[in-house]
Amino acid sequence: MHNFTFQNPTKIAFGRGVISGLGKEAARYGRKALFVCGGASIKANGVYDACMKSLAAAGVSVIEHGGVKPNPALAHARAGAALAKKHGADLVIAAGGGSSIDAAKAIAAGAKYSGDLWDFYTYKAPIQEALPLLTVLTLAATGSEMNCGSVITNEETRQKFAAGGPPLFPKTSFLDPEATYTVPPAQTAYGAVDAVSHLVETYFTTPEKSVNLQLELAEAVTRNIISSSAAALKNPRGYDARAEMMWCCTLALNGILPAGLGETSFINHGIEHSLSAIYDIPHGAGLAIVTPAWFEWKRARGLEPRLARFAREVFRVNEPQDSKAAIICVDRFRQWCAGMGVPVRLSQLNIPSEGIPEIAANAMGLFKLWGIEGYSQKNIEEILTLAK
Ligand code: NZQ
Ligand code: ZN
Repeated sequence: MHNFTFQNPTKIAFGRGVISGLGKEAARYGRKALFVCGGASIKANGVYDACMKSLAAAGVSVIEHGGVKPNPALAHARAGAALAKKHGADLVIAAGGGSSIDAAKAIAAGAKYSGDLWDFYTYKAPIQEALPLLTVLTLAATGSEMNCGSVITNEETRQKFAAGGPPLFPKTSFLDPEATYTVPPAQTAYGAVDAVSHLVETYFTTPEKSVNLQLELAEAVTRNIISSSAAALKNPRGYDARAEMMWCCTLALNGILPAGLGETSFINHGIEHSLSAIYDIPHGAGLAIVTPAWFEWKRARGLEPRLARFAREVFRVNEPQDSKAAIICVDRFRQWCAGMGVPVRLSQLNIPSEGIPEIAANAMGLFKLWGIEGYSQKNIEEILTLAK
């Protein structure tokens, strides 16, 4: 096992009715909160009212900054940071999915910074401080509620970049599975693919040879994401499935599962971010297109034994030969995504083959920034060609 440091300071309040505790928790950090949210979903499902009731009862006033769009935009985050500064907000509260939380993180850091917050995403400046952040999660997917990363899209330059640092860990995140009852089937499925992809990235790229616990944990979480998302798609208001899925997605990207795995690379995310930067597609859909193509490309480049293990442990494939089990793994992954209605080919989202060089060039920029080595633009084009 590689050396590691693990520290995750986010407090999780999980279960039915926990949002009623938001106000009391917010009051620990101040009296004036910038409230960041997306479109109409939280007003339709009661989450907005539950937040406002709790904040009002605790004497916390609210400055609202709604309208975060999926693949949150830099301009909107900049406006939020300016608003927080103007009103002297003491804290930031996000209510929604990963996009609202990521936007809130950008705003929390931007509010404490004299320069342009895009500097954090291009690694021109480290995040040294941020306003305290609380989150109310309404969509199981990204893990942003319990990690210190934020992904923002610069729509002018078509760059979807990530920033991170300890000040961005939410102080407390409220996870009420009932808040996810209204998540539409497509988003439920994208969330499942995204969370599995977070596990895939480290499971398949770890240089560690003699680790077993972390791989078994990743397999168990993956199996449970697959089963709980299937149950949630069948019965959207089933508490146990929504609860299991919510906690699995949080665990998939809160730092605990890759501990000891050494340096790993988010290759599929690097490519997907370029897809959604250029074509503005849902993150989970992009991952369902890229991941099996990367499996296919990498299968004959050293990934066969791990793919075979994944096939047996996750998809319960009963095939003793690694070469055959690895091929089956790629098929089963695509079938799993497609079975939930998630696109697995570029063509299904009308992304033309002629666009592949541009996507690959864009991804190379991100690979450079993230320090991912061993991939040329031609390699990324080959992977995307397998996803046509
Ligand atoms: O805008 P609203 O009304 O909130 O509607 C949203 C949005 O349309 C809707 N939704 C959310 N909760 C709902 C609901 N609809 C009905 N009922 C509810 N309870 O779902 C749609 C998608 O929301 P979004 O927040 O965009 O989805 P997700 O949580 O998948 O977040 C995706 C973003 O997170 C980034 C992605 O790149 C993407 O930009 N990621 C962030 C990560 C992180 N910070 O750790 C890691 C991930 O790898 C990912 O990159
Ligand atoms: Zn992701």
